[in-house]
Amino acid sequence: MGERFDAVDVIRTKRDGGTLSPEQIDWVIDAYTRGTVGDEQMAALAMAIYLQGMDTAEIRRWTRAMLHSGERMDFSSLTKPTADKHSTGGVGDKITLPLVPLVAVFGVAVPQLSGRGLGHTGGTLDKLEAIPGWRADLTNDQLLSQLEDVGAVICAAGSGLAPADKKLYALRDVTGTVDALPLIASSIMSKKIAEGTGTLVLDVKVGSGAFMKRIPDAQKLAKTMVEIGNAAGVTTSALITDMSAPLGRTVGNALEVREAVEVLAGGGPRDVVELTVALAQEMVSRSGKGDVDVAVALKDGRAMDMWKKLIRAQGGNPDAPLPVAKEKKYVRATKSGVITEMDALRVGYASWRLGAGRARKGAPVMATAGIELNKTVGEAIEEGEPLFILHTDEPERFERAADMLDGSTAIDGNAAQGRTSVIIDRVS
Ligand code: URA
Repeated sequence: MGERFDAVDVIRTKRDGGTLSPEQIDWVIDAYTRGTVGDEQMAALAMAIYLQGMDTAEIRRWTRAMLHSGERMDFSSLTKPTADKHSTGGVGDKITLPLVPLVAVFGVAVPQLSGRGLGHTGGTLDKLEAIPGWRADLTNDQLLSQLEDVGAVICAAGSGLAPADKKLYALRDVTGTVDALPLIASSIMSKKIAEGTGTLVLDVKVGSGAFMKRIPDAQKLAKTMVEIGNAAGVTTSALITDMSAPLGRTVGNALEVREAVEVLAGGGPRDVVELTVALAQEMVSRSGKGDVDVAVALKDGRAMDMWKKLIRAQGGNPDAPLPVAKEKKYVRATKSGVITEMDALRVGYASWRLGAGRARKGAPVMATAGIELNKTVGEAIEEGEPLFILHTDEPERFERAADMLDGSTAIDGNAAQGRTSVIIDRVS
C-alpha cells in the first residue's frame, strides 16, 4: 500500500516556515515508528522544527500522535489517587528519590516511570542502581500490585509506552535537536499521559545546567505542557526552578543516593529539602488530599520507612553500605570570598568525565563516580580550602574533570553570604 504523504514534502513545509496539518503529523509519527520514514528524514524534520518552531495546535497534535504510538497504562483499579512529577533534567537533581516516598506517606500512589541519564544529566535509574540488589525492571502487573501494596514505584518505563518518543529522543540526542520547546513539551507529555497518572507536577528547570537557559523560555515551556496535560484530563501544574548551580552538594549516582537518604532522615541541603517539600505539597494537595504539612514526614521517620519499603520491594537492601570511589581528589579555591556562581553545566560535564554518565547509549555508568561540593553558592570560602571533591575508580579521569571545573565558579571578596530560593515561579 502506498504512503499517504511524502516525507520530503513534510520536511519542506516545516523548513519553509509552514504549518503541518494534523494528518501530516499523525502520518509522519506513525511512519517513523514503523520505520518507513528514516532516521535521516526525521533528523531533518526535527532540525526544521528546531529552527522554525510549532504553533500550539501542532504541538498538541504531535504529542497526541506520539501518545498513540504505544499503549496507555490504566490505574483506575487502584484504591488511591495517583500523582507523579517530571523534571526537565538538571545536575544533582536527585529530588525523585526523597519525593516519591514522601508523597506516598500521604496516601497518594506514585507511579514514577523513569529513565537513564545520557550526556551530562543523570538518570534516576542509574542513581538507584547504586543500591545493592535494586532492580529497575518490573512488568506492568508487578508495577500495579506494588502501587497498591507499597503505594509507590520507581521503575524503567516499558518499551510499550510512547515508542515514537523513545526513537525520536535518541535521534535528537545525536543531532543537536534536544533543546527545542515543541520537541521537549511533546516528548515529556506523551510519556506522562501514557503513564496514566491522575495528577502531574512538572519541575521545569532554568539556567546553565538546564535545556532552557532563560526564564521566559522556561515559562513558555511550562505553560505549553500544563495546557497539554489539563486538556488530556491530567491535573497538571509546574514549578519553574533554578538550575544555574547544581542542586544540593552531590552530583553522581551513589553520592546522590547518600544525599537523598540524608533528606529522608530529616537533614540534607536546604535547596534539596525546599524543592522536595514544595513538589510533594503540590502533588498531595492537587490529588485532593487537602493542605497537609508534608515536611513533618521527613522529620518523624515516616518518609524514611516508606523509602525502605520501596527499595526492598524492588530487591534492594536500603541498609547496605553504598559503594565508595577508590580514589578522591580535592580541587581548591584559588581566592577567598563568597561563591556567587557555580556553573551547573560544567559540574555536570566534569562528573560525567569522572564516569558518572555514559558516553554511548547502553554503556555502563560508574556508581561511585561524581563530585561533592564542599562549598556552594552563597557560602564563604578561603583560598586553598577544598571547593570540589572528585570521586572516581579510575584516577586517569581526574585531569579532564578538573579542566572542566576550571573557571566554573565565581568567588567575590565583597559579596554577601546566603542563597535565594530555588523556586522561581509556578504555572497551573
Ligand atoms: N526530558 C524528556 O523526557 N524529553 C525531553 O525532550 C527533554 C527532557
